[in-house]
Amino acid sequence: MALYAIGDLHLGLSVNKPMNVFGPGWEGHVERLRDAFAQLNDGDVTVLCGDTSWGIDFAQSLEDFRLIDSFPGKKLILKGNHDYWWNTAAKMKRFFSDNGLTTLDILHNNCHVYGDYALCGTRGWFYEEEQTGHNEKVFNREVIRLEASLKAAGGRPILAFLHYPPLYTGYRCPEILQKLEEYHVERCCYGHLHGPTHKRAIEGTVGTVAYSLVSADYLGFVPKKILD
Ligand SMILES: [Fe+2]
Ligand SMILES: [Fe+2]
Repeated sequence: MALYAIGDLHLGLSVNKPMNVFGPGWEGHVERLRDAFAQLNDGDVTVLCGDTSWGIDFAQSLEDFRLIDSFPGKKLILKGNHDYWWNTAAKMKRFFSDNGLTTLDILHNNCHVYGDYALCGTRGWFYEEEQTGHNEKVFNREVIRLEASLKAAGGRPILAFLHYPPLYTGYRCPEILQKLEEYHVERCCYGHLHGPTHKRAIEGTVGTVAYSLVSADYLGFVPKKILD
């Protein structure tokens, strides 16, 4: 049994969204993901850190989820900024069960237990959101969601997963960093950064938390092992 994380699969099996327009690094990304996930085992757990499917609704994302479901182990899915298919937890769970997608679950306002650890997370917030005007409501909601998830850990040691980076060269989100430290999060994995922005990612320990970028193109489309 091992725990993995990877974000930004950016699957679009039912929509015309070729990813190689974002650079040669994305060439054959679906096949590369398939090959990498084939190395995992049924007892493994993978956290998918957002931007999972380009589908704008369940119908358009179903083939993407069938592919993910065919990979070994359980997958916990976070919301990313491109997950337009996202819906209420009840509707997403029904969508998974109605379609026999038995290995998928959602990480949103909740936590999942892995061994001694609690796996917590939410989408987070990034300065790009400012482009539509500072949306205090969206920001506050994300901090509240993160805290609800961290509280659900019930005192267990915590591994946190966010879609947006809580820190970046030249950027800090103090409210989110403060929550991670307050709840003694040991490690925080995040996605969202692609291509040229990889070089601005922050990896390693800052304050008391160890940070890792896990966007798929950064990882070469191979899920990162977080724990045995
Ligand atoms: Fe993103
Ligand atoms: Fe992304």
